[in-house]
Amino acid sequence: MKVLVLTEKPFAAAAVQGIREIVEGAGHEFATLEKYTERAQALEAVKDADALIIRSDKVDAEVMDAAPNLKIVVRAGAGYDNVDLAAATARNIVVMNTPGQNANAVAELCFGLLVFAVRKFYTGAAGSELMGKRLGILAFGNVGRNVSRIAKGFGMEVWAYDAFCPKDVIEAAGVHAVDSQDELFRECDVISLHIPATPETKQSINRALCSTMKKGAVLLNTARKEVINEAELLALMEERTDLRYVTDIKPDADADFAAKCEGRYFSTPKKMGAQTAEANINAGLAAARQISDFFATGNTRFQVNK
Ligand code: 3PG
Repeated sequence: MKVLVLTEKPFAAAAVQGIREIVEGAGHEFATLEKYTERAQALEAVKDADALIIRSDKVDAEVMDAAPNLKIVVRAGAGYDNVDLAAATARNIVVMNTPGQNANAVAELCFGLLVFAVRKFYTGAAGSELMGKRLGILAFGNVGRNVSRIAKGFGMEVWAYDAFCPKDVIEAAGVHAVDSQDELFRECDVISLHIPATPETKQSINRALCSTMKKGAVLLNTARKEVINEAELLALMEERTDLRYVTDIKPDADADFAAKCEGRYFSTPKKMGAQTAEANINAGLAAARQISDFFATGNTRFQVNK
C-alpha cells in the first residue's frame, strides 16, 4: 500500500522520519508532498495513494476522485472539518483523527498568546496579570483540559462549559462547571475557545454572546475561525473599545481587525497551535500506526465517519 504524507504546513523532520519508519516497517510504500502551493500538486500526488496522512489539508470529493485507490485518510490532529466525511463514506473511505496528540501544544500556545495580550503586546505599557483572573473554557475536550491544568499553575480561577461533557466530569477535574455558554461569557475575564467547527458552532460566537463580556475581557481563539461571526465581533469591538481578541487562526477580516482594533487585536501569521516537534511526532506517528493497524487488522477505533 502507498501511504502519502500530504501536508501544506510540514511536520518537523523527526516526525516525517518516524512516520517513514513505521510505514516502511509495516511493508508499505512511503511518499510525501510537503509545502505544496497549488491544489493541482495535491491532486497529482494522490493519484496512486492508498492512504493519506494530512493536517488541515482539504480533502474533498475532488481529491477523493483523483485518488481511486484511496482507502483511508488520517487527519494527524483533532479537527476534521477539512475532510468531506459524506464524500468519504460514499466512497467507502475510512476517515480518522488522532485525538489528544497535539492538545498540550495548543494549550501551551494559549498562554503564550494570553500573556502577550495582557502585557499590552510587549509595548512597554503597564499590563495586567493572570493570577486571580477567571478563565472560561468553552468545551472541555483534550485541549480544554490541558488549558485548565496550565491555568491552575498561573493561579487562575478556572470555569468551563461543555454542551456534551457532564458537569460532574468537569468538576472532578477541579474546574467550576457552569450551565450555559452565556453564563461563561458573562462571568469570565478571559474566554478560551475549544469548540470544533460544526454546523451548530459555525458563526456561534456572535454579537449577542460577546456583548455580555466583562469590561476589558479577552477572547482567545485557538479553535477555528469559522466559529466566529467576524462582522458582528468587529462591529462590537469598534463600540466596546475595552474588548480584546487574540487568535491563532487569521480571520478573513484580519486587515479590518488590525486597522480598527489596534492594540487590542493580534493574529498569528499562520496557525501555530500544533506546530511543535512534540505534537508533530505524537500526531504523525499515531496516524502512521493507525494506518498500519487498519491495513493489518482492520482496526477502525478512531474512525470519525462511522
Ligand atoms: C487540530 O485540529 O488538530 C489543530 O487545529 C492543528 O491543526 P494543524 O495540523 O493544521 O496545525
